[in-house]
Amino acid sequence: MQADFKISATIRCDALIIGAGGAGLRCAAEILERKPDAQIIALTKVAHPQKSHTSTAQGGLAAVDPRDPNDANIFHMFDTWKGSDCTADQNVVKKICESAWEQILWLENRGMHFSRDQQGRLSKRTFGGHTRNFGEASAFRAVFEADRTGKGIMDTGWGECLKRGIRFIHQCMAVELLIKDRQCTGCIVFQQKTGTFVQILAKATVFASGGSGQVFKVTTNCRQNTGDGLALVLEAGLPVMDPEAVQFHPTGIVGPGILASETLRSVGGILRNKDEEPFMAKYAPKMKELAPRDLVARAIETEIREGRGILNPDHNIPHVWIDLRHLPAEVHEQQIPEVVSFFKHYVNLDPRTELCPVRPSNHYHMGGIPTNEFGEVQDARQRIVEGLYAVGECAAASFHGFNRLGTNSILELITMGKHIGERVIERLGKESSVRSDAPAERFREKFTGYFAAGGQDNIGLIRNALRSVMTDKVSVFRTETGITEAIETLRELKVRARRTQIGGQSLAMNQELVQRWEIDNLLAVAMAICEAALHRKESRGAHFRDDFPVRSDDFNYHTLVSMPEFGNAELGRREVDMSIFQARGATYEKFGIIERKY
Ligand code: FUM
Repeated sequence: MQADFKISATIRCDALIIGAGGAGLRCAAEILERKPDAQIIALTKVAHPQKSHTSTAQGGLAAVDPRDPNDANIFHMFDTWKGSDCTADQNVVKKICESAWEQILWLENRGMHFSRDQQGRLSKRTFGGHTRNFGEASAFRAVFEADRTGKGIMDTGWGECLKRGIRFIHQCMAVELLIKDRQCTGCIVFQQKTGTFVQILAKATVFASGGSGQVFKVTTNCRQNTGDGLALVLEAGLPVMDPEAVQFHPTGIVGPGILASETLRSVGGILRNKDEEPFMAKYAPKMKELAPRDLVARAIETEIREGRGILNPDHNIPHVWIDLRHLPAEVHEQQIPEVVSFFKHYVNLDPRTELCPVRPSNHYHMGGIPTNEFGEVQDARQRIVEGLYAVGECAAASFHGFNRLGTNSILELITMGKHIGERVIERLGKESSVRSDAPAERFREKFTGYFAAGGQDNIGLIRNALRSVMTDKVSVFRTETGITEAIETLRELKVRARRTQIGGQSLAMNQELVQRWEIDNLLAVAMAICEAALHRKESRGAHFRDDFPVRSDDFNYHTLVSMPEFGNAELGRREVDMSIFQARGATYEKFGIIERKY
């Protein structure tokens, strides 16, 4: 079989972008605006870039309006640092917060339809953990397009790229990175429609491959978010950073886990337990519903654990309520129309008159491919891999540390997309030709293994078992026993997956082949999460250990996990950048290792 896995073509380009969601498109648009003759290829796993997960983003993007007398970049930086539980990198925090508003204007000038107030100014809403004056009160900082902001970002980015001549390759996945002497020269790509492998050689390769939410059974993430980028990087011998930092959004719609935007709480939605008591004041006396997500998610799970959740016999999933009944009709119609329709469609409830069932749902991976503040990928010794960049959810620069604030992810992808685009242009100016000497070997072995297996197991069952164990043992609350059990299960599932025969020997349009491959990716990411979670014997941000419930200064660092072979993880560390603190400027003490109360 091996001989069949030949490379059918070699394509050369200036920049190869692996992923065509918001981050990839923003990066590509920057390159094309500044260098119109650049040849850019963007790969997408799905049938159309608009099907990317960014399209599902609801609430908005945070940016301090320089004309707002009540807000300032330094407040945004502080909130991000405090929200991260002191593990965001301050050089990155500064860079992103300071370039935020410029990027809002970039989007607006290119046609994004931001919602506006009666005076015609951009509307702004509050979001968890965003405050003015270092925690004094909630800040109105998030601009938005109703509750479908991600769709607006995608329309704008896609339009910009299309009109400037990007080349998209649809329904394909990168299967092997081409790296030699710490230089990346592109990758091997598998095209699902034709079942062919092509080699794409590029002066710059940018990972923008999105998240890994499918590792969990209950998630707000799209079906395609299987951590493919992270798995590829691990296979190439590079590390992932802070994989244990996984965000659970407090309000997933019970059952499917579909996102019920934090906007619901921003416009006044109240969380209630089975006695219909509002409970957030117990957990976050000042910020209540608008505390950061890790805190609100734990509050909901605590209510459920202590018997104050609601158990609906229809689905047997305990939950709490979000109460939107008191909100004016105009809010339902203009500010949260999408979410209201989700409740109607998925749980047959009318939020104007009925309480709505919610429970935390996996939402975002703060961890990812380690980069510096220019998006350049680093190896385990923090040396740059030349020509390789990462942006968006798959990357960890790190802007979010161990807990991301709502609306900071879309902000990150548009600002870092721009900055990395600029960095790529610098590289294109220096590289006169595309190198082609890095060998590609691993992908043949991988595909040979997939087609050689003859066992009668079932890929779908393996996937379900993986996602269930991660949701049951490694989600909002974690313990050594639970994580260890999960690791054991993942090892068993790997053995089962290796033996499982895939239906059909065709390479073209073979969904089972893709799903088999996705299982490997999910297993690799899940194992990295578990190994790092086991090692981090403390609680920090979204990583909460019941057996170590307090944050410890011994762990004031980023975790690096390298795992070229499944199950053989090697752990390292990267220092947290504290340059704002070290600069000793005004209010520098707010950027030390501070207490985190809301
Ligand atoms: O709740 C939300 O609308 C999600 C926003 C975000 O993840 O930033």
